[in-house]
Amino acid sequence: MNIKITKTTNPKPIPADDSTLGFGRVFSDHMFVMNYKKGEGWYDPRIVPFDDIALSPAAMVLHYSQTIFEGLKAYRKPDGNIQLFRPEENFKRMNLSGSRMVIPEIPEDVALAGLKELLKLDKDWIPHSDGASLYIRPFVFASDPFVGVRPGEEYIFMIITSPSGPYYATGLNPVGIYVEESFVRAVRGGPGYTKTGGNYAASLAGQVEAQKQGLAQVLWLDGIERKYIEEVGAMNIFFVIGDEVITPELQGSILEGITRKSVIELCRKWGLKVTERKISIDEIADTYKSGALKECFGTGTAAVISPVGLLKWGDLSMEINNNKIGDVSKRLYDTLTGIQYGKITDDMNWVREL
Ligand code: PLP
Ligand code: COI
Repeated sequence: MNIKITKTTNPKPIPADDSTLGFGRVFSDHMFVMNYKKGEGWYDPRIVPFDDIALSPAAMVLHYSQTIFEGLKAYRKPDGNIQLFRPEENFKRMNLSGSRMVIPEIPEDVALAGLKELLKLDKDWIPHSDGASLYIRPFVFASDPFVGVRPGEEYIFMIITSPSGPYYATGLNPVGIYVEESFVRAVRGGPGYTKTGGNYAASLAGQVEAQKQGLAQVLWLDGIERKYIEEVGAMNIFFVIGDEVITPELQGSILEGITRKSVIELCRKWGLKVTERKISIDEIADTYKSGALKECFGTGTAAVISPVGLLKWGDLSMEINNNKIGDVSKRLYDTLTGIQYGKITDDMNWVREL
C-alpha cells in the first residue's frame, strides 16, 4: 500500500525545553490515518497534518467503546539517529486486542511502515534530553454511525505522537501505590488482557481514590477472590523477595507488557531467579513483615521502571527499601534505558533503527 503524504503548511513551534513537556500533552505536526470498510478492507493509508477529526455523533465508538490502542516510544541516540524498542510486539499485541474486541486485523507491515514515515517527517519533534522521548499512540475505533449494538463496519486507524518526559512527575523517585479492595479492573474471560479504552475507564474510580489518599496509582487485585495481585493502572508489577524476582502470572485478566517481558528476559540473562505465579496481597504483607520484601517496581512503556516506595493496603502502610530505588530496579532501569537510547549495546536484538 502506498502511503500518501500531505505536509503541514503551518508547522507548530517545537518545545525548546524538554523539562516542561510532562506526559502526553503536546502533539507533533503530523498523524498517520487509514480507513476500513466492511467488504473493502483497509484503504487509503496517509500522513496528514495533525488536526481535529469530524465524527458523527452516532459514531459507534462513542456509544459502545469498540476501540483499542497501543503505546510505544521513539528514542534519540547520542549520534542523533532514531530508534524504536520492539515495535513489532506492539502491533502484534494490537491485533490480539483487536481479535477480542472484534476489530478487523490491521496489516502490521503497513502500520509499521506508516509509523516510520511519520517519524521521518516529525523527526525534529523527538526530544534530545535524557529520559524524554516521543510517545507514540496508535489506535483504532469503530466510526460508522449506528446506535444498535453490533461490531462496527467502518473503522479508523490513527497514529499520533507526543514529545514527553517522565510519566510520573516524581521521575525515578519511588511512587506510592494504593491497593484497591472494592473496585475490580478485570476478570478472566473479559478484555483485561487487551488495551481497550473501557479497561482504563473502569480503572478511573480506583485512581481517584488513590489520589485522594495522596498516592500515585492503584494496585488491582483479582476480580474473583480479591486476593491475588494483578497489575497497576498503567504498569505490570514485580517484587523482589529474598533473591527471587516474582511477578503475577498471565492468566487473561492482565496486560502482557512488553516491558514486563523484557524485564523477565534480562533478569534471566543475568542469572536471577524469575517466577511468574499467583501472589496474594497477604503473602506480600507477610514478606514485608519478615523483612524478605526487598523491592517492588512497576514496568511499562510510559513509566519504564518505576520503583514503588510505599504500598498501602487498608491500614497497613508498607515502606519498601526505605522508599529508595533498589539495586535490581536500578540495574533494570539503567539497562533498559541504555538500550532504548542507544547508549549501550543491544545484545537482545530489541531496537530497530529508523
Ligand atoms: N498494564 C497496563 C494496564 C498498561 O496500560 C500498560 C502500558 O501499556 C502496561 C501494563 C505495561 O505494558 P508495556 O510494558 O507493554 O507498556
Ligand atoms: C503505556 O505505557 O504505553 C501506556 O499505555 C500507559 C498509559 C498512558 C495508558
